[in-house]
Amino acid sequence: MEKILKLIEKDLKKLEHAIDSLDSTDVKIIKKMVNHIIKSGGKRVRPILVILTSKLCGFKGQKHIKYAAVIEFIHTATLLHDDVVDNAEVRRGSSTVNTLWGNEASVLVGDFLYSKSFELMSKDGNSKIIEAVSGATTILSEGEILELLKTSDPSTTEEEYFDIIYKKTAILFSVACEIGAILAKADSKKKQLLKEYGKNLGIAFQLVDDLLDYTAQENKFGKQIGTDLKEGKVTLPLIHALRYANEEEKTLIKEKLADKSATNDDFEKIKGIIDKYGGFEYTYNTTKRYIEGSRKCLEGFRPSKYRDALMALTDMMLTRKV
Ligand code: FPP
Ligand code: MG
Repeated sequence: MEKILKLIEKDLKKLEHAIDSLDSTDVKIIKKMVNHIIKSGGKRVRPILVILTSKLCGFKGQKHIKYAAVIEFIHTATLLHDDVVDNAEVRRGSSTVNTLWGNEASVLVGDFLYSKSFELMSKDGNSKIIEAVSGATTILSEGEILELLKTSDPSTTEEEYFDIIYKKTAILFSVACEIGAILAKADSKKKQLLKEYGKNLGIAFQLVDDLLDYTAQENKFGKQIGTDLKEGKVTLPLIHALRYANEEEKTLIKEKLADKSATNDDFEKIKGIIDKYGGFEYTYNTTKRYIEGSRKCLEGFRPSKYRDALMALTDMMLTRKV
């Protein structure tokens, strides 16, 4: 990671500056709430993708910084909404905006950032980018709704799960990479490869997120662990376990999912069941397949320091603890 950060050090400084200045508003409390989440140590993975893919395709201008900031704004807007939907109390090691200022404020500040993003893009007037990003945010909302519909449903299939994580998470990774290709006027084959790279990387990212929700150390993860089970979210480790669990184990899982009543003890028990049937290993191995997929896409590009950085990002995804 350090190597990647070094390579685009100047751009990352400009990105922070853009994040500070582009969300300007006369309403001071909005800025305070935005800063609370946006300055709280996010990894900036999505904006880094905009920067690296644009450079990979030979972009020489400065607009990639603005679009990188826009992608981080959209990501932040989705988190502000998602933390309300999920009733989340902690993110990035701090209290969430909904905990500190209430659900209404969190949703509305999300709306502000989301609108600001489209205002910034429309001012720049690149219709291809606006089309790609607006298409992606529609899919993103669909993903979050599909997830909501599947809450507490123990019959959720692996296929349905992958559809949800593609939509709610991977689509934003994919469009971040697409922006890089569009800015650099890359040919359609390269654009397609970068979209596919982002999609695979994003799916891997969410798989690891869902794995860490069971296995992470809370003080490192920056979020509470065990929340997926407690909220009735059926993720891959659990889907795998449900395929092999005996009747008694299945009944326990179904009961806890149905009334979202899992205590810490239930969490430990169910974590043990998942482990017994290799659910964590299965999820990790599946992640590796997606990481392989993303690396394959990069092979369509000539070797360069930017390609190396995008490759390195795939390794980082597999080993991340936060
Ligand atoms: C995090 O998932 C949530 C997302 C990646 C997507 C959230 C999308 C929306 C709320 C809808 C669209 C909103 C806009 C502004 C277009 P998670 O809950 O599994 O991850 P977490 O553990 O980090 O909360
Ligand atoms: Mg959430």
